[in-house]
Amino acid sequence: MNLKLKNKNSKLVSQLLDWFSANARDLPWRHTCDPYAIWVSEIMLQQTQVKTVIPFWNRWLRELPTMESAAKAPSDKIHKLWEGLGYYTRVRNLQKAAQVIVEKHGGKFPQKFEDVLALPGIGRYTAGAICSIAFNQPTPILDGNVIRVLTRIFGISENPKEKKTNAQLWQMAEKLVTHAAGLNSSRSSRRKEAHSEIRNSQSLLTSAATVKSSCSALNQSLMELGALVCTPRNAQCLICPVKKLCVAFQGNRVEELPNLGKREAATARHFIAFVVGHKGKFLVRQRTAGVVNAHLWEFPNVETGARLCEPQRVASEFNALRITDPRSQKLEPLCTIRHSITRYRITLEAFAVRLKNSPAKTGGVWKTPAQMRQLAFTAAHKKLASLL
Ligand code: ADE
Repeated sequence: MNLKLKNKNSKLVSQLLDWFSANARDLPWRHTCDPYAIWVSEIMLQQTQVKTVIPFWNRWLRELPTMESAAKAPSDKIHKLWEGLGYYTRVRNLQKAAQVIVEKHGGKFPQKFEDVLALPGIGRYTAGAICSIAFNQPTPILDGNVIRVLTRIFGISENPKEKKTNAQLWQMAEKLVTHAAGLNSSRSSRRKEAHSEIRNSQSLLTSAATVKSSCSALNQSLMELGALVCTPRNAQCLICPVKKLCVAFQGNRVEELPNLGKREAATARHFIAFVVGHKGKFLVRQRTAGVVNAHLWEFPNVETGARLCEPQRVASEFNALRITDPRSQKLEPLCTIRHSITRYRITLEAFAVRLKNSPAKTGGVWKTPAQMRQLAFTAAHKKLASLL
């Protein structure tokens, strides 16, 4: 590494660590060094914001406080605990990995990066985050926040998703965390002690503790800077601790970076759902394995090409479900729910159907509202259930 870059990295690391020790948010997973708890936080934080995750994380740790409890929890329970976080493959992989840890590692979270990376649902970012945060190892991390911070600081104009640029960014992240590790080793005799000091202290991170647990703190400082200061829009450059070292700030290119190329266009999708009631119960069904939102519950529904659901069309869609005799029910508009999942903009138009006669063939199960509250529903259908 040339001297100039080494110097820049050294300044970056010390300024980021100082900034983090004074500005880190007090997040519940920052009070523990239990790798299980940190792992759960990292999985929840993928594609989900910090403020959304906090109550979910607290509840998960209360209900399933140990690796063993997560490994053997019923599927319904883990899905219910994840209900509302979305991307449910994450929770199924979390449980699979907990089972591997119980079977292969005696229930103890592995410390070797390769063993962590081999677990279901754990990629390079998550393995790096767990090893650095829980074990203070110099393993780099690179997520959306860190990409933004590094492309701006180093003025990288190429698309960070391109293989070569992505590899370059991983290398930069590695150099920074390796440099931070050097700060640890100079005080290694007190490092372990200080690492636990961080977790126990109510004031969270003292400057001294940040230095002694510096791989953990450095990686978290990059994420934190991306979340609080170096944001996608309206970056708060004037309060940035590293603005003097930032190529984008100095060259007035902050808005241009990172260069993420063209966004994939959004696709509109339309669904009709039926809230079918009979004698105080409602018809619901469970999504099958292998489809999006597998294992979650929903009201009977169909995807329609057309946006406007004219009565004739709605009736014929309902009749196609063959829930009852086509002439014996009345369809009433209930509500329209709009939500987004990845690039899809979904509109769900819901109709209430009160059956006069006993249902014929249902393809679902009848549940009372109280029973439905025990089940994990997809986000839009949970809103429908809450209306009952
Ligand atoms: N995003 C991903 N991991 C995080 C963490 N440990 N703290 C805050 N935000 C995060």
